[in-house]
Amino acid sequence: MSNAAAPATDGSDRSTPLHVAIIMDGNGRWAASRGLPRAEGHRRGVDALRRVVRASNELGIQYLTIFSFSSENWSRPATEIRDLFGLLRRFIRNDLATLHADGVCVRVIGEREGLDPDIRGLLSEAEDLTRGNTKLNLVVAFNYGSRHEIAKAAQRLAQEVADGKRTPESINADALGQYLDAPDIPDPDLIIRTSGEQRLSNFLMWQAAYSELVFVPIHWPDFDKAALEGAIAEYARRERRFGGLAAKTGS
Ligand code: IPE
Ligand code: IPE
Ligand code: MG
Repeated sequence: MSNAAAPATDGSDRSTPLHVAIIMDGNGRWAASRGLPRAEGHRRGVDALRRVVRASNELGIQYLTIFSFSSENWSRPATEIRDLFGLLRRFIRNDLATLHADGVCVRVIGEREGLDPDIRGLLSEAEDLTRGNTKLNLVVAFNYGSRHEIAKAAQRLAQEVADGKRTPESINADALGQYLDAPDIPDPDLIIRTSGEQRLSNFLMWQAAYSELVFVPIHWPDFDKAALEGAIAEYARRERRFGGLAAKTGS
């Protein structure tokens, strides 16, 4: 994703974010509060994801990035990791045709090395099938961690210097941004985190430089179109300045 903060300058509607990113959190607590196993919370989380993809398409959002599995989630019990990977498999197998029919273009960011070959195959299949679609871009952050993404970009730049292909002085924010996982995708305008937690947890830290952050108290399995619209309404009330001055200041 590009590092350029890009305020709309063309008079386009700024009240709808072009790119919404969501930290889908609270599945475990949703389940625990009902006396259910955590796996049930994750299963219901997939239902919420379906609702939100549909709603995003209806609302004209162009990019929806979802945090599905973080590089730190490997520290969870093996059974839970198996449940989460099983849900991803099922989501792609069951929903890919519908996503494709709805014009959704699927992209995946994160580290694929080390993932089971069948998961890697499914992720590639989803990307390949939907590559030409022009409605919602669904960016799935899977086995994703921002620090690793940035470190990988730095490594590539260092290699280019070592190979004599660039000078150290040519390394700037734009150059590094070009080596992130999805350099063509604009930075998120709005980042939503459910469940009341107020942190990024290693999600899109570079790209979030000027994102509006909205924290909602509800757990992810309860998130729906109305909750998305509520977060967007909050976003629309914010004033984005990108380091400049307020639009009407001094007049
Ligand atoms: C989000 O819900 C799903 C993933 C992180 C994969 P959690 O599993 O983090 O739920 P809580 O935070 O324990 O409630
Ligand atoms: C962030 O949630 C990761 C995903 C939503 C996939 P976590 O539940 O893993 O984050 P922490 O551990 O509470 O910061
Ligand atoms: Mg959590």
